[in-house]
Order: sequence, then C-alpha cells, then structure tokens
Amino acid sequence: MKHETDKAETLHKPVMVIEAVSLIEPERCARIIDATLGLGGHTEAFLEASSDVSVIGIDQDKNAIELAEKRLARFGDRIRIVHSNFSEIKDVAKSLGLSGGADGIIADLGVSSLQLDSEERGFSFRFDAPLDMRMDPDSGGETAAELLQRLTEKEIADIIYLYGEERHSRRIARWIVEKRQAGEPIVTTGELAALVRRAAGRGGRERVDPATKTFQALRIAVNNELEILKEFVTDAISILSPGGTLVIITFHSLEDRIVKRAMQKASGRCFCPPKFPKCVCGMTDEVKVLTRKPLIPKESEQSENPRARSAKLRACQKKNQ
Ligand SMILES: C[S@@+](CC[C@H](N)C(=O)[O-])C[C@H]1O[C@@H](n2cnc3c(N)ncnc32)[C@H](O)[C@@H]1O
Ligand SMILES: [Zn+2]
Repeated sequence: MKHETDKAETLHKPVMVIEAVSLIEPERCARIIDATLGLGGHTEAFLEASSDVSVIGIDQDKNAIELAEKRLARFGDRIRIVHSNFSEIKDVAKSLGLSGGADGIIADLGVSSLQLDSEERGFSFRFDAPLDMRMDPDSGGETAAELLQRLTEKEIADIIYLYGEERHSRRIARWIVEKRQAGEPIVTTGELAALVRRAAGRGGRERVDPATKTFQALRIAVNNELEILKEFVTDAISILSPGGTLVIITFHSLEDRIVKRAMQKASGRCFCPPKFPKCVCGMTDEVKVLTRKPLIPKESEQSENPRARSAKLRACQKKNQ
C-alpha cells in the first residue's frame, strides 16, 4: 500500500498549483473547499501555505480518498474529507457547519492519473478491462458498456460528436450498434479502442490515439460531467463568503465554455436575446471575474507534466455586498 501511495503521488502532479494558491490566498482564508480532492495535491499546498486554514475535501472516488487521507494525515483536523459528488457542495458545506461560507473553493476537473492508471476502472484504452468509467462505482449509475447497450445509434453518435468533437462519430456509433445487433456488444476498453481505431484512425501515424476522443466523450456522459458542472459554478458562488475566490481548472473546451459563461452570468452579464423586454437568463451581480482570459500553465509546467497541456484556469471573486 505504501508503494501505491508513493506511485500515485509521483504520478499525479497538481496542475497550476502556484496560480491556484496565489488566487485563493490561503493566508487570508479560514476555510477552503477542495471540490475535487483527488490525491490532495492542491489541498496540501493550501494547508502548507497557512497554518490557520482548514480544508474540506470532496471526492466521489473512494480510492482517491483513501490515498489523500494518508497524504494529508499530518494536518490532523485541519482537513476533513467527504465522499460525495460536488453537485452536493451546498449540502456538504451545511452539514459541516460552514455557515459563514467558504473563503476559497477550487475544482480541478476531469480524471486523475490514479483513475487513468487503474486498469479495472475502465477509463483507459491502454489496458483491456471492463468498460466502466464511473468515477463513483458505488453510485449505482450506468457503466459505459451499459450506456452503449441502451442508447440508440443516434444518441451514441451525438455523445461522441458533442463531447468528443469526433468527426467520425456516426461511423463509430453505427459500428457499435452493428456489433450489438450481431450479439457481440462492446464490453471492454480493448474492444472499443480497436473498433474506434478502425473507424476513425488513418493508419496508426497519429500523434494522439484515435480512441482518445471517444473515450473522453463516454466518460463525460457516464459521469454526467457537463450538467453537473453548470450547476456547480452557481452553487459554489452561492456559498462563497464576501471576498472569497472560486478557481476552476478545466481540460477541454466544452468545460471551459461552461465555466466562462457561468462566471460571466454571475458577474452581471446578461445572455438574453437583445429584444427581450426583461432579463430571464438568471444573470446576477455577485462576483468579479478575475481572469478575463483563462490562465494557462507556464511552458516549464507544460513540458514537465503532459496532463497540464490542455489546462485552463478561470477564477472569480465574490463581491462584498
Ligand atoms: C484531476 S483530479 C484532482 C486532483 C487533485 N487536485 C490533486 O491535486 O491531487 C479530479 C478528481 O475529481 C474527482 N471528481 C471529478 N468530478 C467530480 C464530482 N462531480 N464530484 C466529486 N468529485 C469529482 C475525481 O474523482 C478525481 O479524483
Ligand atoms: Zn438576461
């Protein structure tokens, strides 16, 4: 187990940790919520930056929590860890008595390297394993294999096109459904990767594996990631204390677009069509956007940590009302 912790820590370097610390300013905070605790990299940096700050760490993945607990044990009761989806952030804050709000909230989205490197979780096309992809296997939600069994060809194509931006989505969906109809449904990561490479590949000379986009799309669908994210930004802002900062790190354009819009909407920008007599888009005037353009990792971080290459960070600060 010790070995596993070491491996996980070295594998998952927290992305844009310097930027996150300087925006959240733990030395000005009493309470921070890390909505995606993962292996605790960002949380560890916050706890080290100030001995007066405490952190509530949320993650829906019990394996990640087990490792984070070990890594953060030395901080004692300054860290409290909750197994939950961050869609429940308001309830988590309430149940832990966070009545004055959080002074900082961070979400570092997507999968952790622990998840990608755990064969049996079914996130990666590098192994042949059951096609699962649930970040919380206890949730009772559908696995990726079950999703591919249930959905229509059009629904599968739409998911792969919208969430994966894969232009061969229709052909991939057709082949998946043809296999299903032939009594050979896709049930493993290896089968899916082989099918996508045949349907979308151009002969194995691509820099990125042709299966990448389809795997990303299915993961987003299985975990309902984009719907949850929209609500999360609004909920997180609602529980920030005056002057508190929300930092969100995303890894693909769909997530970034959702975060950008939600932060703009909470900063008084109306998204209603110009002819509307009154605003119905839900715009509020609660925050100041701190990043007009998203921050991206420094070149040195991008070259050291491949996972950082697609990262974008946006932040906003709750107004003193
Ligand atoms: C990229 S990792 C976070 C890494 C962490 N910042 C670190 O430095 O170790 C993302 C984590 O967020 C968790 N996660 C993703 N979506 C979530 C959600 N909706 N609710 C709770 N946890 C979620 C995943 O299980 C994963 O462990
Ligand atoms: Zn409006």
